[in-house]
Amino acid sequence: MTLFNRRKFLSTSIFAGLAPLGGTEATLHEVSENETGKSKWDLDSPALCVDLDRMERNIRTAHQRLQGSGIALRPHAKTHKCPAIARMQMDAGAIGICTAKLSESEIMLENGIPDVLMTGVNISVPKIRKAMELRKKYKGFIQAVDNPQNAQDLQDAAKAAGIVADVVVDINVARRSGVLPGRPALGLAQLVDRLPNLRFRGILAYDGGVQHVKGFEKRKERNRTGMEPAVMSYDLIKKSGLNLEIFSGGGTGTYNMMAEIPGFTDVQIGSYLFMDHQYMIIGGAANEALYDDFEPSLTVITTIINSNYEKRLVTDAGSKAMTLNQPPALVIGEPDFLYNAGSDEYGTITFERASKSYKVGDKLEVIVPHCDPVVNLYDRIYGIRNDKVESVLPVLARGKSQ
Ligand SMILES: Cc1ncc(COP(=O)(O)O)c(C=O)c1O
Repeated sequence: MTLFNRRKFLSTSIFAGLAPLGGTEATLHEVSENETGKSKWDLDSPALCVDLDRMERNIRTAHQRLQGSGIALRPHAKTHKCPAIARMQMDAGAIGICTAKLSESEIMLENGIPDVLMTGVNISVPKIRKAMELRKKYKGFIQAVDNPQNAQDLQDAAKAAGIVADVVVDINVARRSGVLPGRPALGLAQLVDRLPNLRFRGILAYDGGVQHVKGFEKRKERNRTGMEPAVMSYDLIKKSGLNLEIFSGGGTGTYNMMAEIPGFTDVQIGSYLFMDHQYMIIGGAANEALYDDFEPSLTVITTIINSNYEKRLVTDAGSKAMTLNQPPALVIGEPDFLYNAGSDEYGTITFERASKSYKVGDKLEVIVPHCDPVVNLYDRIYGIRNDKVESVLPVLARGKSQ
């Protein structure tokens, strides 16, 4: 596994061609210079940290567990928004990465990630144009489509850009995005195939709802039945003679269930890297109480700023540092602490029992409720090894919601 120390990190290909980001690179460099080697407990807070040993093990574990299953990994970068981490995933054997948004895709491509599949659709004229410009510049960019008009609009923009753009058809399995399964899916795939400036590459089917179903067997069954419409669409498209090389979907909750889906090629796992409280409680094949296929690696260091009240502590990490997602943050080493991030800048902890007495200025380390939106609140993730800062990982696609 690549060691992301500061010097190595700054010299990797991800910085080649880095667009000037209003001084961001210089600032990050400076922060890194000053803070590398510091104990994580000496970081000013709130600070977002990733335990590098744990994250690296999570990356390895996912590959090991899928080895021999015929299923590849195309991890979703919406989780980390960080080209440096995408590079680590590619180095570990991922066939590419996924992105949710166009601006996120642009950051990944411009920072040296060659194979990017955007799982969301681009609908507005500026986005469609930009997507096709990106495809012109980066041959590894693949774009999702889920309706015929959008396919036609992509065709027009691809023609204007003088390219043949790679497209996957997103199939609805969760009533969020996607063309309806069956005939409509086949019709859209055939339309894409007919349009001269589009190249049909395959299908997507992602069910977000099934990922957090509690209990391994229950989740597996729901995944199997939930994917049936996508499998039926896959069969229709395949029988029609189209070249169907991608059938992608799945997440951290279902990554090890996708091999039983006929035709399926690759999983888009995201949260497996970091884990969070939402995922820890779903249960896995080996442990129904705790989903421990992957280790929680992402934490926030927060400081106690008020201890005036009995059985109550106030921290500097409220919703702007932790989000309002539920179940709430978990304070490491304090199982009785109940964390409420309900105030913008203040977290409130209530408890009956504590392992020690706490005073103002003491630090706590907290596992986040849901990793993706927490990462989006920070400019950098401190890469921690043996409790010390080894690297600073810039979250270059932070806030890239367009
Ligand atoms: C389309 C798509 N694929 C993959 C993922 C990754 O899922 P997870 O973080 O559960 O692994 C997401 C997450 O929301 C998603 O929207």
